[in-house]
Amino acid sequence: MQTNTTALYERLQSKLGRIVPEFELQIKAELAERINRLKKERNAVILGHNYMEPALFHSIPDFTGDSLELCRKAEATDKDIIVFCGVRFMAETAKILNPAKTVLIPSPKAGCSLAESITAADVRALREKYPGVPVISYVNTYAEVKAESDICCTSGNAAKVVEHLGAERVIFLPDEYLAKNVAKETGKRIIFPSRTPRPASSLKQGGLQYEMIGWHGRCEVHEQFTVEDIRNVRRQVPDVVVLAHPECSPEVVAASDFSGSTSALVRYVREVKAARYLLLTECSMGDNIAAENPEREMVRLCSIRCPHMNEITLEDTLSALEQTRYVVELDEELRRRALRSVERMTEIG
Ligand code: 13P
Ligand code: SF4
Repeated sequence: MQTNTTALYERLQSKLGRIVPEFELQIKAELAERINRLKKERNAVILGHNYMEPALFHSIPDFTGDSLELCRKAEATDKDIIVFCGVRFMAETAKILNPAKTVLIPSPKAGCSLAESITAADVRALREKYPGVPVISYVNTYAEVKAESDICCTSGNAAKVVEHLGAERVIFLPDEYLAKNVAKETGKRIIFPSRTPRPASSLKQGGLQYEMIGWHGRCEVHEQFTVEDIRNVRRQVPDVVVLAHPECSPEVVAASDFSGSTSALVRYVREVKAARYLLLTECSMGDNIAAENPEREMVRLCSIRCPHMNEITLEDTLSALEQTRYVVELDEELRRRALRSVERMTEIG
């Protein structure tokens, strides 16, 4: 091994030695060293979402974080190339914010069940059904949906965005569970209209007053966690602190001790000192938190990886930089319209 690779391997070994087998760390340290060299040569920045696998997460990103934090880094960078180690909607957001840069995503297969649950035509149909009602779209949507929306939000600022608008009623897309969790947090009533077009009946639907209109998108990872999972763990580990992402069902969030964006969960473990934690989110993030907090115990009952995040590997990131692939391209008019929605969110802070 060359000196730089040895140093990187030793750093990874001291962080991840309890989590990743030694031979795997050796192979990954070599790949990461090649990526880091190429990154400098090509004047690139690498952004890594909190769900990246531990060896990648701890070796190549210049910045790590949740969707909102990475949006801000993408906007601020002066590098020529942004390599987004995350899923497609995140890389698209980087392109929306920084069109002069070449934005690369290491795998074209890194989708998202939420982003795929709604189209621009669906948003237009909702606008027709609910004229004048502002549309808030979760950043886990593609650019064409952002372009049809009034404002975006992330898991870190969803309630704040709803409250900031101060509207009598809002359309909140596309995550059913996030919408229900935000409705609960802000004290609003929510309905989920059927997809078959029906005229809006002014303030009432099914005899109910409502302030939010949701959509039936789900995260295929977070919808799998159940209240029963929490009960089982609490029975076995009575002092466990349960942390859930707000893409989990409202029942799961209610049975947890804390809910927040991926970075809010990371900060919670760092700042609120408990002996044991159960993390109800993508399980690579549990590995990454365990690596950062060797003195805390993570209950290792997680077996759910996001199949889309899992597509992003060190091998593909190296190929992305070597071959300048896969380039994220957006139609300029669509990008400008999507930008308006993203900027309105970032202005709120
Ligand atoms: P965060 O914005 O909390 O990082 O979440 C992104 C995501 O895709 C969660 O599944
Ligand atoms: Fe999408 Fe869920 Fe994967 Fe996040 S964890 S990228 S919401 S499928």
